[in-house]
Amino acid sequence: MVEQIRGRLLAPEARKIAPTYSTAQLAALCGVDKAHVSYRLTKEDLPSGRLTPTGGKRIFELPELRAWTRTYRADKMRPAGRPAVTIAVGNFKGGVAKTTTSMVLAQGLSLRGHRVLAIDTDPQGSLTTLHGLLPEAEVSEDMTIAPLCDGAEDDIRYAIRSTYWDGIDLVAAAPFLFSAEFALPARQMRQSDAEFWNVLNAGLDSVRDLYDVIVIDTPPSLSYVTINALWAANGIVVPVPPSGLDFASSAQFWALLADLGANLDEQSKDRRGKHFDFLHVLLSRVDSADPAMPAVRQWIQSTYGEFTLPVEIPKTSVTSNKAAEFATVYDVQKYEGSAKTYKRAVDAYDAFVDLVEQSIVGAWSDGAGSEV
Ligand SMILES: Nc1ncnc2c1ncn2[C@@H]1O[C@H](COP(=O)(O)OP(=O)(O)OP(=O)(O)O)[C@@H](O)[C@H]1O
Ligand SMILES: [Mg+2]
Repeated sequence: MVEQIRGRLLAPEARKIAPTYSTAQLAALCGVDKAHVSYRLTKEDLPSGRLTPTGGKRIFELPELRAWTRTYRADKMRPAGRPAVTIAVGNFKGGVAKTTTSMVLAQGLSLRGHRVLAIDTDPQGSLTTLHGLLPEAEVSEDMTIAPLCDGAEDDIRYAIRSTYWDGIDLVAAAPFLFSAEFALPARQMRQSDAEFWNVLNAGLDSVRDLYDVIVIDTPPSLSYVTINALWAANGIVVPVPPSGLDFASSAQFWALLADLGANLDEQSKDRRGKHFDFLHVLLSRVDSADPAMPAVRQWIQSTYGEFTLPVEIPKTSVTSNKAAEFATVYDVQKYEGSAKTYKRAVDAYDAFVDLVEQSIVGAWSDGAGSEV
């Protein structure tokens, strides 16, 4: 049934395709105006897209757009010799928009010119599904971190596949990845110096100069795999919807992370201890009509202070009406509903991606000194 539904939603190709972009969208991402784009086109040194059949408009494919953004945003690109910045999106609470946040972050950063590796560590495979793959039918073990976790592989490269989205490669997940929850502790029993928490981190070493950003989506639990994702990360994003219960479980997340960090630091061979370049709390799925919202927002802001990102993602119907499980706002080619609703959602996600990009650029530029 899932296969049939996907076929219908993604008709006629039955596979995902990335949207195309107008001159105005390209100009906005490059931080210039449309007139400048027309001028630059006369130099013929960047992709020129194609004109619509009526000749009225120019359309750019995603790889063309990315060539432009890399050129115009050169100051924000990864400096030579610096490693990829790894970001884990986590919260032990389910349904707080972790996967949606991971996907828009990967898409938004790639639109800005970065090369992204997305890693799905959740056996539910939701991030994999958003990339247009069906976890049960189309994902085999060698496309996931399972062989890394059971020790058959020690370098993630075997699992990387390209996706429908230029600029995002994927390490997928599927239900059999639950086996990692047994494989990781079993390895530790066999081999006492195995460091079960450092398996993903070590597996990523070989690709840190191939990508600019690595985005890891995590399951809604404190599992062995989640610990690996957090341990591999330079930065953490915790989406929290402003509801009392979600707030309470996000507080548990930080408490457990701190306990665990102190514990593992003690046991690690690497005596420098675990540091993060940035930690961000993101208010997600904010329903401005909810009467409890202002109070909970206040709790979140006074608890997390400057760790709370100065942007809120509104609860939106942009992706919930049609292919909710298969698309984000950045997949929408032409929104059928109200332009205002669409703009509000895109503006919020754009602001979020810009803020995280600032943290990434900051991590590249100083390396030390900004750690928390
Ligand atoms: N801003 C938003 N407005 C409305 N719906 C949203 C928004 N963000 C996410 N959703 C929807 O909320 C649901 C849960 O989102 P998502 O899968 O991203 O959460 P999650 O934290 O990854 O869940 P899980 O814990 O199961 O992994 C999805 O159906 C998603 O489409
Ligand atoms: Mg998820």
